Amino acid sequence: MSQWAIPFNRPSTVGMELAYIQEAIAGGALSGDGAFTRRCHELLEQQLGVSKALLTTSCTHALEMAAILAEIQPGDEVIVPAFTFVSTVNAFVLRGATPVFADIRPDTLNLDEQLLPRLITARTKALVPVHYAGVGCEMESILGCARAHGLLVVEDNAHGLFGRYKGKPLGTFGALATQSFHETKNFTCGEGGALLINDPRFVERAEIIREKGTNRSRFFRGQVDKYTWVDIGSSYLPSELLAAFLFAQLEAREKVQTARRRIWETYWQGLQGWAHDRGVRLPIVPAHCEQPYHMFYLLLPSLQQRQALIAHLRSRGILSVFHYLPLHLSAMGCKYGGRPGACPVTEEVSDRLLRLPFYYALTEADQALVIAAVRDFPG
Ligand SMILES: Cc1ncc(COP(=O)(O)O)c(C=O)c1O
Repeated sequence: MSQWAIPFNRPSTVGMELAYIQEAIAGGALSGDGAFTRRCHELLEQQLGVSKALLTTSCTHALEMAAILAEIQPGDEVIVPAFTFVSTVNAFVLRGATPVFADIRPDTLNLDEQLLPRLITARTKALVPVHYAGVGCEMESILGCARAHGLLVVEDNAHGLFGRYKGKPLGTFGALATQSFHETKNFTCGEGGALLINDPRFVERAEIIREKGTNRSRFFRGQVDKYTWVDIGSSYLPSELLAAFLFAQLEAREKVQTARRRIWETYWQGLQGWAHDRGVRLPIVPAHCEQPYHMFYLLLPSLQQRQALIAHLRSRGILSVFHYLPLHLSAMGCKYGGRPGACPVTEEVSDRLLRLPFYYALTEADQALVIAAVRDFPG
């Protein structure tokens, strides 16, 4: 049991998870790319309209595959937001890339597309926008920039499955996109991810990279009579146990999203007036973005108040958490030239942002306690 009366996250089963795991075991094969993996692939391909979806062991691994597919060479520059998770950039650095950190927009907290023309150089190879909280980046202008400079776009859509930008699903804009099924995400199998491929040119090589650099996928389809080592790669495919769990979650997507929408809207209604009076900013979702209700955050007026609110909630058994530290100011970021003041919005937001408990099984009564505790904050 959690030490918290109301934790920040609590993973739960939402449908057929345990039955499907038993079915996988009864099927007699638990390694990757069995029937449940195929069902997950088909569901993602149909729901999103992507050429190919490939389950991976994490979003981090999907990003690593994307970096290999992008043929990143030492010295190539890759533009990433400074406000993101380590893996968005580390996957490319592993291949020798030099990260170039872009600041974020103050409204959506997404990579500020207006900065791109200043950051792109002759060495830039790829742009990696992150749809923070599942609210779409300004993809029209990002894709326009990429086209003008011949750059590859990899969407880090770890938060954004089933979100949309101008009516089109997130994850369908870049040549490649990545998903996370980590336990904090809307849909999970504990640890997991997916690579979405929109440019069919990448499909065959992606299958090889995911299968240890072999053409085993072609062998299983009967397209070659033996399989062998043909490229670099690793073991990026999850077991059928994970795929079975994940398929049950994806299948229950309407139920999950309805519950999450209710939670998000309840926070919004319960905290709107309070936030206005206290100078606290709630999430901004532009009209042309449909969010997947991944997260509810508050932007407090100062670091001091953010820390005080975390402590106040903790005193009532409620776990609220901050989010990314500015990547350009991390030990690694500094090695790549990051310095204080380089990404001022990221630096400020990182100090002021607080995420409230948000999970499928959060009850109305518990959520009411969270809202009441926030409203009672003396700070
Ligand atoms: C934006 C972003 N990208 C990538 C990841 C890594 O995901 P995973 O834990 O599935 O590797 C995370 C983790 O939460 C994330 O927030």
